[in-house]
Amino acid sequence: MITGKPLYTVNQIQDRVKEIADAISDDFKGEELLVIPILKGAFMFASDLVRNIKVPLKMDFIMASSYLKTDSTGEVTLHCDVRENVMDRNVLLVEDIVDTGVTLNYIRERLLQKRPRSLKICGLLDKRERREVDVPLDYIGFEIPDVFVVGYGLDYDNKYRNLPYLAVFKKESDER
Ligand code: PRP
Repeated sequence: MITGKPLYTVNQIQDRVKEIADAISDDFKGEELLVIPILKGAFMFASDLVRNIKVPLKMDFIMASSYLKTDSTGEVTLHCDVRENVMDRNVLLVEDIVDTGVTLNYIRERLLQKRPRSLKICGLLDKRERREVDVPLDYIGFEIPDVFVVGYGLDYDNKYRNLPYLAVFKKESDER
């Protein structure tokens, strides 16, 4: 169940997304980006982010997962890989949450092998105290404590992704 007040409200999220998009637009002035959200979780964040980025960009998508309900399996499954040519492009990976860092590290390593011109990472939520693999994050929305968060693309068992805000989720005893 969803507990208490939103962790971050619609307005707080939208304000922060605009700030990050402005920073990205400044950093890539005069360049073109290849923006790659990591699905499913990043779909909502990425769609708001790209609407606020002011440099030309193209998009591709990666779909990967490592979670089973509330637990990380520690193993990444790649469901769908990039189709664009990554070599010599300015790649911006977009992730909804960085927890252990296993997913992002796996995807980053794979993309680096394709020799992009640059590879930057943008994560909406950084659950730093849970980190097991050190992944460099270039743009961070919010640093959060070790709580299970749903909404704004993030799920529990593929539910709650449609909430426009971020909320803390606690499993009820009858919730499977
Ligand atoms: C979540 C999230 C990140 C990853 C973060 O994905 O979207 O990709 O886990 O965890 P990590 O840092 O411990 O690897 P999930 O496996 O739930 O798939 P989803 O994006 O389809 O919900």
